[in-house]
Amino acid sequence: MRIEEVRDHCFGGHSLHDPFMGGWTPVISAMLDLPEDVTLSGISIAVVREAMETHLSPGSALQLAVTGMNTKRRTEFAAGRVCASEALRGMGLIAEFPLPVRNRLPVWPLGVVGSISHCNTIAVAMTAPKSRYCALGIDVESLLDPDTAQGIQQYVCRDEELDRLERYIPCRSRSLTILFSAKEALYKALFPLVGRFKDFHAAEFVGFEPCSVVLRLTHDWTSCWRAETKIKVRYAWLGQEVISAVCLPRYLDLTKRETHEKFRQWYWRPHGFAAP
Ligand SMILES: CC(C)(COP(=O)(O)OP(=O)(O)OC[C@H]1O[C@@H](n2cnc3c(N)ncnc32)[C@H](O)[C@@H]1OP(=O)(O)O)[C@@H](O)C(=O)NCCC(=O)NCCS
Repeated sequence: MRIEEVRDHCFGGHSLHDPFMGGWTPVISAMLDLPEDVTLSGISIAVVREAMETHLSPGSALQLAVTGMNTKRRTEFAAGRVCASEALRGMGLIAEFPLPVRNRLPVWPLGVVGSISHCNTIAVAMTAPKSRYCALGIDVESLLDPDTAQGIQQYVCRDEELDRLERYIPCRSRSLTILFSAKEALYKALFPLVGRFKDFHAAEFVGFEPCSVVLRLTHDWTSCWRAETKIKVRYAWLGQEVISAVCLPRYLDLTKRETHEKFRQWYWRPHGFAAP
Protein backbone atom coordinates (compact mmCIF):
# COMPACT_ATOMS: atom_id res chain seq x y z
CA MET A 1 0.00 0.00 0.00
CA ARG A 2 1.33 3.45 -0.84
CA ILE A 3 1.53 6.18 1.79
CA GLU A 4 -1.17 8.25 0.06
CA GLU A 5 -3.54 5.31 0.40
CA VAL A 6 -2.67 4.88 4.06
CA ARG A 7 -3.30 8.57 4.70
CA ASP A 8 -6.42 8.62 2.59
CA HIS A 9 -7.73 5.75 4.65
CA CYS A 10 -7.03 7.58 7.92
CA PHE A 11 -8.29 10.94 6.69
CA GLY A 12 -11.35 9.70 4.82
CA GLY A 13 -9.90 10.14 1.34
CA HIS A 14 -8.57 13.61 2.10
CA SER A 15 -4.96 14.12 1.12
CA LEU A 16 -2.74 16.23 3.42
CA HIS A 17 -1.43 18.97 1.19
CA ASP A 18 0.97 21.38 2.87
CA PRO A 19 2.36 23.94 0.42
CA PHE A 20 4.28 25.72 3.21
CA MET A 21 6.33 22.83 4.57
CA GLY A 22 6.24 21.00 1.24
CA GLY A 23 8.15 23.94 -0.17
CA TRP A 24 10.38 24.42 2.85
CA THR A 25 11.50 20.90 3.65
CA PRO A 26 14.16 20.66 0.89
CA VAL A 27 15.38 24.13 1.84
CA ILE A 28 15.72 23.14 5.51
CA SER A 29 17.62 19.97 4.50
CA ALA A 30 20.01 22.16 2.55
CA MET A 31 20.32 24.73 5.35
CA LEU A 32 21.08 21.91 7.80
CA ASP A 33 23.55 20.53 5.26
CA LEU A 34 22.15 17.04 5.87
CA PRO A 35 24.03 14.14 4.26
CA GLU A 36 22.30 12.81 1.14
CA ASP A 37 21.30 9.56 2.82
CA VAL A 38 19.45 11.34 5.64
CA THR A 39 15.82 12.14 4.80
CA LEU A 40 13.90 15.00 6.41
CA SER A 41 10.18 15.57 6.29
CA GLY A 42 8.05 18.34 7.79
CA ILE A 43 4.42 19.39 8.03
CA SER A 44 2.47 22.33 9.49
CA ILE A 45 0.46 21.52 12.60
CA ALA A 46 -2.42 23.60 11.17
CA VAL A 47 -2.75 21.24 8.19
CA VAL A 48 -2.87 18.17 10.42
CA ARG A 49 -5.24 19.83 12.91
CA GLU A 50 -7.69 20.59 10.14
CA ALA A 51 -7.48 17.04 8.80
CA MET A 52 -7.90 15.54 12.28
CA GLU A 53 -10.96 17.69 13.02
CA THR A 54 -12.74 17.13 9.74
CA HIS A 55 -11.44 14.00 8.06
CA LEU A 56 -10.19 11.48 10.66
CA SER A 57 -11.90 8.19 9.91
CA PRO A 58 -13.47 6.43 12.90
CA GLY A 59 -11.84 3.08 13.53
CA SER A 60 -8.70 3.93 11.57
CA ALA A 61 -5.33 2.95 13.06
CA LEU A 62 -4.55 6.62 13.70
CA GLN A 63 -7.85 7.23 15.44
CA LEU A 64 -7.22 4.25 17.72
CA ALA A 65 -3.65 5.36 18.44
CA VAL A 66 -4.73 8.86 19.58
CA THR A 67 -7.63 7.70 21.76
CA GLY A 68 -7.31 9.29 25.20
CA MET A 69 -4.98 12.08 24.07
CA ASN A 70 -6.06 15.71 24.35
CA THR A 71 -6.53 17.72 21.15
CA LYS A 72 -3.07 19.33 21.15
CA ARG A 73 -1.29 16.06 21.88
CA ARG A 74 -3.23 14.03 19.29
CA THR A 75 -2.57 16.62 16.59
CA GLU A 76 1.16 16.79 17.31
CA PHE A 77 1.42 12.99 17.60
CA ALA A 78 -0.33 12.55 14.24
CA ALA A 79 1.79 15.26 12.64
CA GLY A 80 4.98 13.55 13.83
CA ARG A 81 3.78 10.21 12.49
CA VAL A 82 2.84 11.72 9.10
CA CYS A 83 6.37 13.17 8.88
CA ALA A 84 7.89 9.82 9.86
CA SER A 85 5.92 8.09 7.09
CA GLU A 86 6.96 10.71 4.56
CA ALA A 87 10.60 10.43 5.53
CA LEU A 88 10.41 6.64 5.23
CA ARG A 89 8.75 7.00 1.86
CA GLY A 90 11.67 9.22 0.87
CA MET A 91 13.87 6.18 1.57
CA GLY A 92 11.60 4.02 -0.56
CA LEU A 93 9.93 2.37 2.45
CA ILE A 94 6.27 1.93 3.33
CA ALA A 95 5.78 1.26 7.04
CA GLU A 96 2.93 0.73 9.44
CA PHE A 97 0.95 3.96 9.96
CA PRO A 98 1.10 5.33 12.55
CA LEU A 99 4.42 3.87 13.68
CA PRO A 100 3.83 2.07 16.99
CA VAL A 101 5.23 3.32 20.31
CA ARG A 102 7.42 1.44 22.79
CA ASN A 103 8.53 3.22 25.99
CA ARG A 104 7.53 6.58 24.46
CA LEU A 105 9.82 5.93 21.46
CA PRO A 106 8.55 5.30 17.93
CA VAL A 107 9.32 1.80 16.67
CA TRP A 108 11.13 2.26 13.38
CA PRO A 109 11.13 -0.43 10.68
CA LEU A 110 14.06 -2.84 10.73
CA GLY A 111 17.18 -1.27 9.27
CA VAL A 112 16.10 2.33 9.92
CA VAL A 113 17.05 4.93 12.53
CA GLY A 114 14.92 8.01 12.95
CA SER A 115 13.71 10.79 15.17
CA ILE A 116 10.53 12.89 15.46
CA SER A 117 9.88 16.33 16.92
CA HIS A 118 6.94 18.70 17.07
CA CYS A 119 6.03 22.08 18.52
CA ASN A 120 2.91 24.26 18.31
CA THR A 121 3.44 25.13 14.66
CA ILE A 122 5.37 22.40 12.84
CA ALA A 123 6.40 18.75 13.08
CA VAL A 124 9.50 17.18 11.58
CA ALA A 125 11.02 13.72 11.25
CA MET A 126 14.39 12.50 10.05
CA THR A 127 15.31 8.97 8.95
CA ALA A 128 18.42 7.18 7.65
CA PRO A 129 19.68 3.63 7.04
CA LYS A 130 20.87 1.89 10.20
CA SER A 131 23.73 0.40 8.22
CA ARG A 132 25.27 3.88 8.02
CA TYR A 133 24.01 5.71 11.11
CA CYS A 134 23.84 4.52 14.69
CA ALA A 135 21.44 7.29 15.69
CA LEU A 136 19.62 10.45 14.65
CA GLY A 137 18.15 13.18 16.81
CA ILE A 138 15.92 16.03 15.74
CA ASP A 139 14.32 18.82 17.71
CA VAL A 140 12.15 21.81 16.85
CA GLU A 141 11.61 24.67 19.29
CA SER A 142 9.86 28.01 19.04
CA LEU A 143 11.96 31.05 19.88
CA LEU A 144 11.90 31.45 23.67
CA ASP A 145 10.47 34.73 24.89
CA PRO A 146 12.86 36.73 27.10
CA ASP A 147 11.07 35.86 30.38
CA THR A 148 11.03 32.12 29.66
CA ALA A 149 14.66 32.30 28.54
CA GLN A 150 15.62 33.92 31.81
CA GLY A 151 13.57 31.41 33.80
CA ILE A 152 15.12 28.27 32.29
CA GLN A 153 18.67 29.50 31.66
CA GLN A 154 20.24 27.94 34.74
CA TYR A 155 18.76 24.53 33.88
CA VAL A 156 19.92 24.63 30.25
CA CYS A 157 23.56 25.76 30.50
CA ARG A 158 26.25 27.42 32.54
CA ASP A 159 26.77 31.19 32.14
CA GLU A 160 30.15 30.53 30.47
CA GLU A 161 28.51 28.50 27.69
CA LEU A 162 26.04 31.27 26.95
CA ASP A 163 28.74 33.96 27.05
CA ARG A 164 30.77 31.95 24.54
CA LEU A 165 27.80 31.42 22.17
CA GLU A 166 26.76 35.05 22.44
CA ARG A 167 30.05 36.09 20.86
CA TYR A 168 28.51 34.66 17.66
CA ILE A 169 24.78 35.16 18.38
CA PRO A 170 24.40 38.29 20.46
CA CYS A 171 20.74 37.78 21.34
CA ARG A 172 19.90 36.00 24.61
CA SER A 173 16.57 34.52 23.44
CA ARG A 174 18.06 33.18 20.21
CA SER A 175 21.26 31.82 21.71
CA LEU A 176 19.41 30.08 24.55
CA THR A 177 16.80 28.64 22.18
CA ILE A 178 19.62 27.21 20.04
CA LEU A 179 21.41 25.69 23.05
CA PHE A 180 18.20 24.26 24.47
CA SER A 181 17.21 22.74 21.15
CA ALA A 182 20.71 21.45 20.34
CA LYS A 183 20.94 19.66 23.69
CA GLU A 184 17.51 18.10 23.23
CA ALA A 185 18.48 16.88 19.74
CA LEU A 186 21.66 15.37 21.15
CA TYR A 187 19.72 13.70 23.97
CA LYS A 188 17.18 12.31 21.50
CA ALA A 189 19.93 10.80 19.38
CA LEU A 190 21.78 9.24 22.31
CA PHE A 191 18.89 8.16 24.54
CA PRO A 192 18.02 5.05 22.48
CA LEU A 193 21.70 4.02 22.71
CA VAL A 194 22.37 4.81 26.37
CA GLY A 195 18.87 4.27 27.84
CA ARG A 196 19.18 6.73 30.69
CA PHE A 197 18.07 10.27 31.51
CA LYS A 198 20.66 13.05 31.26
CA ASP A 199 20.06 16.63 32.33
CA PHE A 200 21.16 19.63 30.26
CA HIS A 201 24.52 19.88 32.02
CA ALA A 202 25.52 16.45 30.68
CA ALA A 203 26.77 18.26 27.54
CA GLU A 204 28.23 21.71 27.06
CA PHE A 205 28.69 24.14 24.20
CA VAL A 206 32.32 24.23 23.03
CA GLY A 207 32.34 25.36 19.42
CA PHE A 208 30.49 27.36 16.81
CA GLU A 209 30.42 27.02 13.05
CA PRO A 210 27.98 28.71 10.68
CA CYS A 211 24.68 26.84 11.20
CA SER A 212 26.06 24.36 13.72
CA VAL A 213 27.24 24.16 17.29
CA VAL A 214 29.59 21.61 18.81
CA LEU A 215 28.60 20.02 22.12
CA ARG A 216 30.95 18.05 24.36
CA LEU A 217 29.81 15.38 26.79
CA THR A 218 30.77 16.53 30.28
CA HIS A 219 30.96 12.99 31.72
CA ASP A 220 30.69 9.39 30.54
CA TRP A 221 27.13 8.70 29.36
CA THR A 222 28.13 5.02 28.90
CA SER A 223 31.38 3.15 28.31
CA CYS A 224 30.94 3.95 24.58
CA TRP A 225 29.84 7.57 24.92
CA ARG A 226 32.62 8.99 27.00
CA ALA A 227 33.34 12.38 28.52
CA GLU A 228 35.03 14.75 26.05
CA THR A 229 33.24 13.27 23.01
CA LYS A 230 32.37 16.17 20.72
CA ILE A 231 29.24 16.06 18.60
CA LYS A 232 28.14 18.51 15.93
CA VAL A 233 24.54 19.71 16.07
CA ARG A 234 23.29 21.37 12.91
CA TYR A 235 20.62 24.05 13.23
CA ALA A 236 18.48 26.21 10.96
CA TRP A 237 15.85 28.88 11.64
CA LEU A 238 12.51 28.68 9.89
CA GLY A 239 10.87 31.96 10.93
CA GLN A 240 10.40 31.76 14.71
CA GLU A 241 11.31 28.07 14.95
CA VAL A 242 14.74 26.52 15.20
CA ILE A 243 15.31 22.98 13.93
CA SER A 244 18.32 21.11 15.33
CA ALA A 245 19.66 17.86 13.95
CA VAL A 246 22.24 15.30 15.09
CA CYS A 247 23.43 12.60 12.67
CA LEU A 248 25.79 10.04 14.16
CA PRO A 249 27.53 7.99 11.46
CA ARG A 250 28.04 4.34 12.34
CA TYR A 251 31.64 4.36 11.27
CA LEU A 252 33.99 6.66 9.46
CA ASP A 253 36.44 5.76 6.75
CA LEU A 254 39.55 7.38 8.17
CA THR A 255 41.53 6.61 5.03
CA LYS A 256 39.52 9.25 3.17
CA ARG A 257 40.97 12.71 3.50
CA GLU A 258 37.61 14.48 3.50
CA THR A 259 36.16 12.15 6.11
CA HIS A 260 39.24 12.56 8.24
CA GLU A 261 38.83 16.32 8.13
CA LYS A 262 35.14 16.08 9.07
CA PHE A 263 36.03 13.67 11.83
CA ARG A 264 38.67 16.02 13.21
CA GLN A 265 36.26 18.94 13.06
CA TRP A 266 33.10 17.69 14.61
CA TYR A 267 33.05 14.12 15.71
CA TRP A 268 36.00 13.41 17.86
CA ARG A 269 36.15 10.40 20.13
CA PRO A 270 39.23 9.15 21.95
CA HIS A 271 39.10 5.75 20.22
CA GLY A 272 38.07 6.94 16.81
CA PHE A 273 34.83 5.08 16.14
CA ALA A 274 31.18 5.70 16.86
CA ALA A 275 29.38 3.37 19.21
CA PRO A 276 27.99 0.27 17.54
C1 LIG B 1 12.56 13.53 25.53
C2 LIG B 1 12.58 15.00 25.23
C3 LIG B 1 13.96 15.39 24.70
C4 LIG B 1 11.51 15.30 24.18
O1 LIG B 1 11.58 16.63 23.78
P1 LIG B 1 10.27 17.53 23.61
O2 LIG B 1 10.73 18.89 23.14
O3 LIG B 1 9.45 17.45 24.82
O4 LIG B 1 9.43 16.86 22.48
P2 LIG B 1 9.74 16.69 20.92
O5 LIG B 1 8.54 17.10 20.20
O6 LIG B 1 11.03 17.31 20.50
O7 LIG B 1 9.95 15.13 20.80
C5 LIG B 1 8.92 14.26 21.11
C6 LIG B 1 9.14 13.01 20.31
O8 LIG B 1 10.43 12.48 20.58
C7 LIG B 1 10.35 11.06 20.68
N1 LIG B 1 10.84 10.77 22.04
C8 LIG B 1 10.18 10.75 23.19
N2 LIG B 1 11.03 10.46 24.19
C9 LIG B 1 12.23 10.30 23.64
C10 LIG B 1 13.52 9.98 24.16
N3 LIG B 1 13.73 9.75 25.46
N4 LIG B 1 14.56 9.87 23.30
C11 LIG B 1 14.39 10.08 21.97
N5 LIG B 1 13.19 10.39 21.42
C12 LIG B 1 12.14 10.50 22.26
C13 LIG B 1 8.91 10.68 20.42
O9 LIG B 1 8.82 10.35 19.05
C14 LIG B 1 8.16 11.96 20.71
O10 LIG B 1 7.04 12.19 19.90
P3 LIG B 1 5.71 11.31 19.99
O11 LIG B 1 5.52 11.00 21.45
O12 LIG B 1 4.66 12.15 19.41
O13 LIG B 1 6.03 10.08 19.19
C15 LIG B 1 12.30 15.88 26.48
O14 LIG B 1 10.98 15.65 26.90
C16 LIG B 1 13.20 15.60 27.64
O15 LIG B 1 13.00 14.71 28.46
N6 LIG B 1 14.29 16.44 27.80
C17 LIG B 1 15.16 16.38 28.93
C18 LIG B 1 16.41 15.64 28.66
C19 LIG B 1 17.37 16.41 27.82
O16 LIG B 1 17.01 16.95 26.80
N7 LIG B 1 18.65 16.45 28.25
C20 LIG B 1 19.68 17.14 27.54
C21 LIG B 1 20.96 16.36 27.69
S1 LIG B 1 22.34 17.25 27.02
